[in-house]
Amino acid sequence: AYVVTQNCIRCKYTDCVEVCPVDCFYEGENFLVIHPDECIDCGLCEPECPAEAIYLDDEVPDTQQIFIEINAQLSEQWPNIKERKEPLPDAQAWDGKPDKLALLIK
Ligand code: SF4
Ligand code: F3S
Repeated sequence: AYVVTQNCIRCKYTDCVEVCPVDCFYEGENFLVIHPDECIDCGLCEPECPAEAIYLDDEVPDTQQIFIEINAQLSEQWPNIKERKEPLPDAQAWDGKPDKLALLIK
């Protein structure tokens, strides 16, 4: 499955949601996750993310392995999101900032 990683936090552009054929994105306050059992590995969302936050599970960088578990867990708790919406207001300022995991609102 594909995985949303740290650079989505506080950006949440949601361009990924628009292209997902199976609507397997789930939404928190400042982050989205992909449900690993629902994702069909089509790969459409990955190039759509302006923050380059989406990776195939096999290709998640070493420093971000924890996000595989985070996507699995939070996709069971958060509501489904099917349509694109406005990014968070400071998305551009937060894009590329390091160590955003501590800012994730669960
Ligand atoms: Fe949806 Fe395809 Fe992305 Fe999986 S890889 S989350 S099915 S768009
Ligand atoms: Fe997040 Fe990128 Fe989607 S910033 S909401 S994974 S388009």
